[in-house]
Amino acid sequence: MQQKIKKIINKKNKSKIVSLTAYSKNIATILDDFCDIILVGDSLGSVLYNYKSTREVSLDTMIEHSKSVRMGIKKSLMVVDMPHNTYRNSKEALKNAKKIMSKTKCDAVKLEGGKKISQIVRILVKNNIPVMGHLGLLPQSDKNFKFKGKKIFEKNKILKDAKLLETAGAFSIVLECVETSLAKIVTKKIDIPTIGIGSSNNCDGQILVFDDLIGLNPIDVRFVKKYSNIRKVMTKAVSNYAKDVRKKVFPLKKHSYN
Ligand code: KIV
Repeated sequence: MQQKIKKIINKKNKSKIVSLTAYSKNIATILDDFCDIILVGDSLGSVLYNYKSTREVSLDTMIEHSKSVRMGIKKSLMVVDMPHNTYRNSKEALKNAKKIMSKTKCDAVKLEGGKKISQIVRILVKNNIPVMGHLGLLPQSDKNFKFKGKKIFEKNKILKDAKLLETAGAFSIVLECVETSLAKIVTKKIDIPTIGIGSSNNCDGQILVFDDLIGLNPIDVRFVKKYSNIRKVMTKAVSNYAKDVRKKVFPLKKHSYN
């Protein structure tokens, strides 16, 4: 097992795992100093491309953004989402995961689902491809974007799926919008770290979409804390630039060549 992956697993019960998404080099460069894991999430479909769902994201799009992100990372573990319809069976999953690993030089891939994909996870891991799981709300397949784990059948399924992913060799599991007490139980019952998004502080780590955290993506959901209002800062900068150009005070002599 890669040293970097071992380091993440060893954080369980010791220190919280910090994780964010990045879709490009300059952002990854900023995150790298503070994060343990940087995820090239297929959330880029809605955040950057205005797709209705992540189901429209292609493998090539993920690869191109990941190549950019790779250039900005020196130390964090880099994980890339396998997009919808790229891991429908073991053969397809292995071919596409190998392509992602070799083209992007990432450290691991992330797949959504439990029992249905556990055999695929086993095969990827056997082929030295580290896998992060993803349970709870599954944007690639769920029709209903509500939090999970209130109903007893959901609770049992998520717990069972977490154990199956661990047994299959996943090194960590994202828990998206999982009810607080269930997140605590899952985190306690497995030996690999859980990374929560909308799943309380009972998880071993946290992840957010970077554009949400800085207030660039105009969404308002309960689990996002906006740490800045970057839209305001950017709006001011652009408005000042526009004023300067119109008033002919930009560019000045010092911005010009002679
Ligand atoms: O696609 C993504 O950004 C994700 C995170 C929200 C976990 O899967």
